Amino acid sequence: MPEIVKIFDTTLRDGEQSPGASLDVNQKVEVARALESLGVDAIEAGFPVSSPGDFEGVRAVAKAVQQPVVAGLARCHKADIDAAAQALKRAKHPRIHVFLSTSPLHMKYKLKKSPAEVLRIATDLTRYARSLCRDVAFSPEDATRSDLSFLAKVVEAVIAAGATTVNIPDTVGYTTPGEFEAMIRELFRRVPNFGKVIVSVHCHNDLGMGTANSLAGVRAGARQVECTINGLGERAGNAALEEVVMALKTRAKYYGVKTNIRTREISRVSRLVSTATGMIVQPNKAIVGANAFAHEAGIHQDGIIKQRLTYEIMDAKDIGLKASRLVLGKHSGRHAVGKRLSDLGHKVTPEELQAIFRKFKDLGDKKKEIFDEDLLSLVEESTGAPREIYVLDHVQATSGSNMVPTAAVRLTRDGQACHGSSTGDGPVDAVYKTIDHLVDRHPKLVHYAIQAITGGTDAQGEVKVQLAAHGQTVTGRGAHTDIIVASAKAYINALNRLAGLERVRNVGARSSLALNERRGR
Ligand code: KIV
Ligand code: ZN
Repeated sequence: MPEIVKIFDTTLRDGEQSPGASLDVNQKVEVARALESLGVDAIEAGFPVSSPGDFEGVRAVAKAVQQPVVAGLARCHKADIDAAAQALKRAKHPRIHVFLSTSPLHMKYKLKKSPAEVLRIATDLTRYARSLCRDVAFSPEDATRSDLSFLAKVVEAVIAAGATTVNIPDTVGYTTPGEFEAMIRELFRRVPNFGKVIVSVHCHNDLGMGTANSLAGVRAGARQVECTINGLGERAGNAALEEVVMALKTRAKYYGVKTNIRTREISRVSRLVSTATGMIVQPNKAIVGANAFAHEAGIHQDGIIKQRLTYEIMDAKDIGLKASRLVLGKHSGRHAVGKRLSDLGHKVTPEELQAIFRKFKDLGDKKKEIFDEDLLSLVEESTGAPREIYVLDHVQATSGSNMVPTAAVRLTRDGQACHGSSTGDGPVDAVYKTIDHLVDRHPKLVHYAIQAITGGTDAQGEVKVQLAAHGQTVTGRGAHTDIIVASAKAYINALNRLAGLERVRNVGARSSLALNERRGR
């Protein structure tokens, strides 16, 4: 039976330390519940002494979840440990996580303490934490730049003082997989009681090796990995939970261990965390990036159509997606274009496909990605139907601390001008309600994200929305220096895509009928 590697999620603590990613109490509870359904073994909910909001967040998470351990972080200070114990009072499985630096650099410049003092403080405060909680983790901060003999001494002492988990952090993302594996193995060799506790690793991603280093720790015998959803965390972030878990699953024979994670929840939780924190996931991010299961190159698409395993080491369904995507662009081949048309219910003859494919390649040189509605335009160019059904003409929103947010919108619908106004829960909501009314559609807003694409208060903002209707989901984007205008543009862009998809379905049905008639069926 493979051993279990516990997953300690620190999205709500280290992840929340990502610049600009702070979460309120309700968001923390929502994410914690999602982490519980994901099956994480432990949730680090915050650093209770750091602010009243953090204290409240830990308290609320401790109350909200039942299965996972809930941890609160504390420096080796009595006040920190008391605050953590207090915040965790209602947790079913509480853990106090204390930390203290052990590297010469941190001891000299940050703590201004000698190694002997650090050893004593770490031991005393671990013992104190243990007097308040049965489950105590100790982290020697900046372990990977510490003197190994001193580190071993501290680790042995805190275990003797009652630590039940020892977490070895690569605080500044400095180590390498080979070096880290050797270091953990050496601690097992030198520290007689190391095997009696849970050995954990916590690796930052400054050199892009957070996941690789964590996995090297597992190879050396670590049985807990501290990580975050989408790799959030201080500076370049922490090892990404989804990467660690999927590496252990995909290379199960190599690592010989498993986790308790329900991997089909990964995609959902990733999206939730991205929305809650406002931290957009880069498209090429492993496992959860929009392109992680997307293929554009013709040779790859052809391989995937013939046998998925040719270019996929994981099944998109295993992380909760419906399937991988064949993205149509200038590198795509005829085979993929034909398959996409057929998936859309649009049957074409080989001659028709040849003609569409020629136009497709011309368009591919001009456009990054060719969407279903673009394909439709190529197929039905002869109909002369306009691709953009809705065109935004004017948008204006007013809001403030003592007024009801109101929006006015003017747009054209199939060339016909129309205008209207509505109130909403905020200016964006008011704009979206007005547009829904004008276009007489009510799609579900699945995702809304905004990011600055240039710097400063006059930054160009990019809004990305995801709308769902009739079982189909589309993405829309809009950019403008005014975020209300960017929001309206993104919404209209997505509505045009939904409308395009509807046309694809209708034309597909019509053309299949016509083809069948031509073939005499
Ligand atoms: O990176 C680090 O060292 C930490 C500790 C508090 C575990 O986040
Ligand atoms: Zn950290």
